[in-house]
Amino acid sequence: MIQLKDVSVYYPNTEIPALHSINLSFDEGEFICVLGKSGAGKSTLIRCMNGLQQPSTGEVYWDGQPLAQKNNEQQRLVRREIGMIFQHFNLIPRLTVLQNALTGMFGYRSSLKNLLGIFSREEIETAKRILGVVGLTELEHRRVEYLSGGQKQRVGIARALLQRPRVFLGDEPVASLDPGTSNRIISLLKELHERHNLLSVMNLHDVELAKRFASRIIALKDGVVIFDGNPQEFTTDLFEETYNK
Ligand SMILES: Nc1ncnc2c1ncn2[C@@H]1O[C@H](COP(=O)(O)OP(=O)(O)OP(=O)(O)O)[C@@H](O)[C@H]1O
Ligand SMILES: [Mg+2]
Repeated sequence: MIQLKDVSVYYPNTEIPALHSINLSFDEGEFICVLGKSGAGKSTLIRCMNGLQQPSTGEVYWDGQPLAQKNNEQQRLVRREIGMIFQHFNLIPRLTVLQNALTGMFGYRSSLKNLLGIFSREEIETAKRILGVVGLTELEHRRVEYLSGGQKQRVGIARALLQRPRVFLGDEPVASLDPGTSNRIISLLKELHERHNLLSVMNLHDVELAKRFASRIIALKDGVVIFDGNPQEFTTDLFEETYNK
């Protein structure tokens, strides 16, 4: 579904690449956790996958087609298929839970309707149903600024789901949450992932969470893939290699 072929990323004024000759394939149904210490290249990898970062060399493919060769409209359609889950939620604080969730549908509607905030009864019903799925029915009309971190993240997940994505991409989606809430949010993401047969790729800092939930672990070190495989095979030695050496 998504492929990276020989992808390297050099940021301006840096000598060491953030990613170095990355070759990876990602398929629907996979729940992938990307591990690596700070600066390893995890965010850069996610940004290459959603087209926000152009590789310096190599190519990113979506369904066999090079992303870079798609025109603006085609790239917009690709981005619509990606539900992004952010560490800091990226919600609009003064709007309610329901209003924030509805913005997930923007990619399917006219700009004018989006600007004016006009939604059909059916769209609102759909958004309310999804808020029910993530357990936020009672908070529909509360302004997001008054929610806890875990509740905000569930609004972010509802918004991403309303995009009808094929892919969930998360850049440290639970890094600002306590361990219990992190666990519940990842469980929810996994459940939705399975229900909709998505591809999910999440950068995580918590190896235990990754081992518990991932179907595949990718470990990055200095922009290079040092492990790609079954979570059970991610041994203590590999952990040391990833984080301490
Ligand atoms: N815009 C930029 N300009 C220059 N260098 C950058 C830029 N963004 C990232 N880098 C560098 O590229 C490397 C990889 O960064 P990246 O943000 O992908 O790491 P990361 O694994 O996500 O780290 P963290 O866990 O701290 O979020 C780092 O050395 C970083 O300093
Ligand atoms: Mg990062």
